[in-house]
Amino acid sequence: MKKYNVAVVGVGAVGIEMLRCLKQRNFPLGELRVFARSSRNIEVDGQNYSVQAISPEGFAGIDIALFAGTEGEKGAAVTYASEAVKRGAVVIDNGVDFRMDPKVPLVVPEVNAKDVKKHKGIIANPNCSTIQLVVALWPIYKKAGIKRLVVTTLQASSGAGRGAVEQLKEEIVSLLSSWPVIQLYGQTGKRANGQTVLPQQIAFNVFPHIGGFGDFDYTTEEWKLVKETHKIMHDDKIKISATCVRVPVRTGHSESVYVETAKSLAPEKARKILSGGPGVIVIDDPKSNLYPMPCDVEGKDEVFVGRIRRDPFIKSGLWLWIVSDNLRKGAAVNAVQTAELLIR
Ligand SMILES: NC(=O)c1ccc[n+]([C@@H]2O[C@H](COP(=O)([O-])OP(=O)(O)OC[C@H]3O[C@@H](n4cnc5c(N)ncnc54)[C@H](OP(=O)(O)O)[C@@H]3O)[C@@H](O)[C@H]2O)c1
Repeated sequence: MKKYNVAVVGVGAVGIEMLRCLKQRNFPLGELRVFARSSRNIEVDGQNYSVQAISPEGFAGIDIALFAGTEGEKGAAVTYASEAVKRGAVVIDNGVDFRMDPKVPLVVPEVNAKDVKKHKGIIANPNCSTIQLVVALWPIYKKAGIKRLVVTTLQASSGAGRGAVEQLKEEIVSLLSSWPVIQLYGQTGKRANGQTVLPQQIAFNVFPHIGGFGDFDYTTEEWKLVKETHKIMHDDKIKISATCVRVPVRTGHSESVYVETAKSLAPEKARKILSGGPGVIVIDDPKSNLYPMPCDVEGKDEVFVGRIRRDPFIKSGLWLWIVSDNLRKGAAVNAVQTAELLIR
């Protein structure tokens, strides 16, 4: 079997999961190079990895570069993705920088696998909350069409990176000194200047603010959900409105989703369609306390759906509760699946 030289950029919350995924999914690896801002040795699940300081030359001979570094003007993707492409690699980037570029496919393999073929060197991975939303909605969209969505997300601290997970831990420890500590990444929840990673208290708190504020007073995270869903589903007529909320969960985003379908769809039918949907698992027996919860989906690769019920007042209105691990299907798994499509 042909083997591929792969680079992973970033060893934060997503980068570590990338390393896990490549191993767990038996990706046909030739050489694996791991880059971050500085060199060090790390251990993931008992395996040692030598991390090198990133440089353009480091991408020579790399076939696929999985980027999970920082975003923005001086971020890893903007600085190094073109350097990797110049040296012959295909880049799959987890950040926001290329997602809405019309030349860059935005791919969720269960929904728009064919878009991979349109790449010109860079493929973007959507935002974590978009991925789980479209995986769950796609089977419904194909069967009944979707006119409108109203979404509230409840997003875990790891969605803001490993520093935010450590901030949650440190806050919990200082608020409840007897709370058992989960050693996750050995990082601090404070930046070098002593500021916390997020300005708000995460522990024992929720706040409706992820990213910056933009048009119509919606946050950038809320706009990502709208625009990325339109791009992936190739349908910008779906009316989408969202509120994104940070919650004191370690990992696993939840979404309360109101779907107005084009053709009315009974909940039993929706349950059946979703049960056969690629990458979807239905857990929907609320009277027995069975519905998806972040603490149960952490470390899993599927998108879980429950609380499927109709709007008592509107025949074409359905409610869904969608939960997935933001670091796995919401980032690393989706990127590695896309790499698998590429080599296929
Ligand atoms: N967390 C999620 O749920 C999630 C989901 C979907 C997408 N994403 C996206 O995935 C990316 C990574 O997120 P994360 O949560 O893993 O962040 P993170 O935990 O903060 O880790 C960031 C990693 O990127 C490295 N890095 C930063 N700047 C770099 C540069 N200029 N060159 C090379 N490496 C650099 C850091 O290196 P050092 O270790 O040397 O500091 C660190 O290892 C972001 O674009 C994020 O938006 C995250």
